[in-house]
Amino acid sequence: MILVTGGAGFIGSNFVLDWLAHSDEPVVNLDKLTYAGNLHNLASLRDDPRHVFVQGDIGDAALVVSLLATHRPRAVLHFAAESHVDRSIHGPAAFIETNVNGTFTLLEAVRAYWAGMSAADKAAFRFLHVSTDEVYGTLGADDAPFTETTAYAPNSPYSASKAASDHLVRAYHHTYGLPTLTTHCSNNYGPYHFPEKLIPLILANARAGKPLPIYGDGRQVRDWLYVSDHCAAIRRVLAAGRLGETYNVGGWNEMANLDVVHTLCDILDALDPKPRGSYRDQISYVADRPGHDRRYAIDAGKIERELGWKPAETFETGIRKTVQWYLGNQEWVRDVQSGDYLKWVEKQYGLQDG
Ligand code: NAD
Ligand code: TYD
Repeated sequence: MILVTGGAGFIGSNFVLDWLAHSDEPVVNLDKLTYAGNLHNLASLRDDPRHVFVQGDIGDAALVVSLLATHRPRAVLHFAAESHVDRSIHGPAAFIETNVNGTFTLLEAVRAYWAGMSAADKAAFRFLHVSTDEVYGTLGADDAPFTETTAYAPNSPYSASKAASDHLVRAYHHTYGLPTLTTHCSNNYGPYHFPEKLIPLILANARAGKPLPIYGDGRQVRDWLYVSDHCAAIRRVLAAGRLGETYNVGGWNEMANLDVVHTLCDILDALDPKPRGSYRDQISYVADRPGHDRRYAIDAGKIERELGWKPAETFETGIRKTVQWYLGNQEWVRDVQSGDYLKWVEKQYGLQDG
């Protein structure tokens, strides 16, 4: 079996569902269920014996050691993290705690577990670390996209904490020989995306008749990847990635934020029109994010050349599926828009939600 951390979050839950759709190999899913973790994402697996959910912290060494000893996974896939840049600006401590200290604790437990395996199991074992393109910092308009050899230059507490975790993973490979793989992915979008990130926030606010907040001039560029393409890339890297290597994963889909928001409004105008006017009328420019990275772009050539992976979705196909999913899953949206989410909206945008 495999052990997944953070498998109740956006990408992790998509990955668990995708994994079990492609294989019968069971998954142990260790997730703390922070505000971002949501077991409703995995409701379809409630009676599925291939999925074992454990609520717990990757920083709880005794728990991780006992899970490894009990389930004896052949691979650990590490998704768990604090993941939202704006939250890292308001409160960086949780990012250091989970992304740096938590990853360290997990690596230590995995190192001891791996050291005790037979030679054959040791050789077959993998620790796959899910990282981000944000560790490379920001690009100018004419710069070449990030490659695996681009120097690290993290600019936010979030990206700095992910960079620190990447360095630990690298060191555990070089020092102890732990069979690691690291992926650097661009911005994901798709089902089960928590509505604090741009695309699901815009969809939720649009339908609720609320302002659609654009930071600064809205010309910042991100490289969007449909989440199921990311899941396929991770399966491929796990199966065939070279040990100790890093792989950039991107959608070849660079878009300015304002163009993303216009696209979302136009699809909503077609699929779920307002009684009068366009969703674009709700666009509202707000103060820019401090230290806002201007442009991210991934050169995903290495993973395509070496492992034969490339994205199946274009932005046009993926975003349409995404909007349709949100329109068809309003109960999920309502459910996540409670509790901690309400406090966050008030703090970040100075608005009372609801
Ligand atoms: P998310 O915030 O939606 O989910 C994170 C999950 O981790 C949640 O279920 C949460 O409960 C869990 N978690 C947090 N702290 C934990 C802890 N201490 N112990 C156990 N579980 C804990 O994040 P996501 O968007 O699904 O991102 C998953 C991974 O992918 C992260 O490592 C992130 O850095 C990386 N990534 C995300 C994107 C993106 O666009 N979302 C892009 C590139 C890389
Ligand atoms: P986000 O989804 O938070 O991802 P990241 O910061 O990791 O790239 O933001 C994507 C882009 O959208 C980023 O440039 C910030 C911008 N943005 C807004 O303009 N308004 C918003 O309300 C949010 C959440 C993001």
